[in-house]
Amino acid sequence: MTATSTLGKPTSRIDGRAKVTGAAKYAAEYNVPELAHGFVVTSAIAKGRIARIDTADALAVDGVIAVFTHANRPKMAASHEKYCDDVAPAGKPFRPLYDDRIRFSFQPVALVVAEEPEIARFAALLLRIEYQQEPHETDFEKQRGHAFIAKGDGETHSHKRGNAGKAFADAPLKVDVEYRMAVEHHNPMEMFGATAVWEGDGRITVYDKTQGPVNARNYVANIFGMEPDEVRVLVPYMGGGFGSGLRPQYELPLAVLAARALKRSVRVTLTRQQMFGLGYRAGNIQSLKLGAERDGRLLSFGHEFIGMTSRFEAFQRTYVAWSSQLYKCANTDLVQKLVRLDQNSPCDMRAPGGAEGLYAIECAMDELAAAANVDPLELRLINYSDRDQMEDKPYSSKELRECYRQGAERFGWSRRKAQPRSMKDGNELVGLGMASGIWEAMQLEACARAVLGANGSLEIASATADIGPGTYTMMAQLGADLMGVPLDNVTVKLGDSDLPQAPVEGGSFTTASVGSAVAAACRAVQKDLLRLAQKTDASPLKGAKLDDVEFADGWIRRKDGRAEVSFADAMRAGKVDRIEKEASAAPNHKSKYAHYTHSAVFAEVKVDEELGVIRVTRIVSAVAAGRILNPKIAGSQILGAVVGGIGMALHEETATDHRFGRFMVHNFADYHVPVNADVHGIEVIFVEEKDDEINPLGVKGVGEIGIVGTAAAIANAIYHATGKRVRDLPITIDKLMRE
Ligand code: MOS
Repeated sequence: MTATSTLGKPTSRIDGRAKVTGAAKYAAEYNVPELAHGFVVTSAIAKGRIARIDTADALAVDGVIAVFTHANRPKMAASHEKYCDDVAPAGKPFRPLYDDRIRFSFQPVALVVAEEPEIARFAALLLRIEYQQEPHETDFEKQRGHAFIAKGDGETHSHKRGNAGKAFADAPLKVDVEYRMAVEHHNPMEMFGATAVWEGDGRITVYDKTQGPVNARNYVANIFGMEPDEVRVLVPYMGGGFGSGLRPQYELPLAVLAARALKRSVRVTLTRQQMFGLGYRAGNIQSLKLGAERDGRLLSFGHEFIGMTSRFEAFQRTYVAWSSQLYKCANTDLVQKLVRLDQNSPCDMRAPGGAEGLYAIECAMDELAAAANVDPLELRLINYSDRDQMEDKPYSSKELRECYRQGAERFGWSRRKAQPRSMKDGNELVGLGMASGIWEAMQLEACARAVLGANGSLEIASATADIGPGTYTMMAQLGADLMGVPLDNVTVKLGDSDLPQAPVEGGSFTTASVGSAVAAACRAVQKDLLRLAQKTDASPLKGAKLDDVEFADGWIRRKDGRAEVSFADAMRAGKVDRIEKEASAAPNHKSKYAHYTHSAVFAEVKVDEELGVIRVTRIVSAVAAGRILNPKIAGSQILGAVVGGIGMALHEETATDHRFGRFMVHNFADYHVPVNADVHGIEVIFVEEKDDEINPLGVKGVGEIGIVGTAAAIANAIYHATGKRVRDLPITIDKLMRE
């Protein structure tokens, strides 16, 4: 690391100014000449067929250009494989405007295109749609008996070790409980939108709200039978995703379809209401059966997860495995099941799988602590596992003990009185709760480009998106540090499918994946630069190998300090004014270690029993995530994710009206999220964690770990405050006051 390096320092975002001044444009903010505007019409029923769509009245409106439906849409791919994007679950993806079938309420059934957005929106009201309705089923509770074990997504989700049934039956202490979690929607600030620019020669450039421009580009090319180089997808900035933009959403194909048919640029934006027709975090029921010795040592761990999915895909993530990574236990029975409903497929939502699974696991551990009369934190330490029992591997690093210790100290866990209802502040009951968090530290293959100019400028480029976590800044910091130039000299290009190929931004894997590619590209530039510096016979670096020198402040220096050559002189010697290199980096698939990020979350709540009002007055989240490149930006990820955890615990819920098979919550009046008044003190601790094995940068990623365990810590704190277990998220006033 060089003297001017910003790594490890709380550096502000390089795109911060553009974001807060509005200079950073979103997908629906790109204006091009002759732009037409599309408004989507969605299904009012949950299941059936479209018998007829009468478009005459809409088409008669002055300014309406076209109405696209399944009946007149242009040609789209016939085989379902063409619609499977990089993030698609097992099954046959939904195809917008493909046929007359209605598979879920809010499904898009028509696109009205007009000269102005208001005209399109008005004309959309004039469509007359006749349905042949069929009976639908959206009642998850009623259908739980039909839960099945889904196969085919390539992951082993269920797991048995030893004999959990017998161990549970024989255990002196038992916890046998069921938890529930409501459907949640992501609700990012920016609505989904796509501006498809008709380039005149058949090529299309799309500004789309997506977490994966390459994924989106390939999807468009596949479904419309275009060559990949005929489509370019751009997403320089994104107003939040949380997973909702990992898969291509329907605004993208609809905008492209209309632009190709009309040979004209078309923008399609969704309304806030329509966004509730996209994916969601699946509601779920989780049954936990924990058997333990009287001192709290686990003898058996049973966990059954039942989630919901659509009729056409089997969406699931890893929900139940996590206890085998956290707690030593010889007997386990872990199983995941799905129930099919007549609604859209769920999709990834921040820490998908982990956020759901750890809610139930960590609440059950709290219940076991109470049954064993052991401090909840002590119970975690008693059962601490140094091995990943799913794969029987040690961890490349696991500073979870330090998370517990430092988090507890900062939080003041020692002041907790064991007895529920024993702590008060005036009229309010005070509760302290805690939970563990864990998330997989993933890395995917990615490619990046580095261009060094003779004047010391450095450009870093990769196709992945920056959905908000600060990827522009991370890549600039890494480039500056690795190449040995000041941060101000670095420009970063992201969010463009034409750039060196990279995966979607998600899974907390971008810094490890794209950062490693940036490191490789910078290394390749340095190799060339050193070769050029050695061109003259008089070169003071003659004979030096790459490892003998360092690159700092625009100079190549021998590590022994004996000689140096400036970047500019090296390029002059080589008669070039820039060096451009592209490189890729891939994870070590043969690693003998398991790779995880960990956390300990501590929550304080105050409960007004007469009113049932719960306030989360304090959260301490202690995170071990390898090397932290920028504590300010990484800290913001944890802060935001903790707020998401507060929402999960207390507010977020998309209720369904089963009479209509329709989410009846589809606006911000009904869908509650934490606002400023709901968020009090949140403190983030990054525990030092060195990990040379995981990747050369030693980074793990922090985008998701902050939400994992947070809802459990709050639920456990509410139990400690009130003596009441509400096992059904969100914990609303009515549930708390119900006898
Ligand atoms: Mo995240 S749910 O991988 O965007």
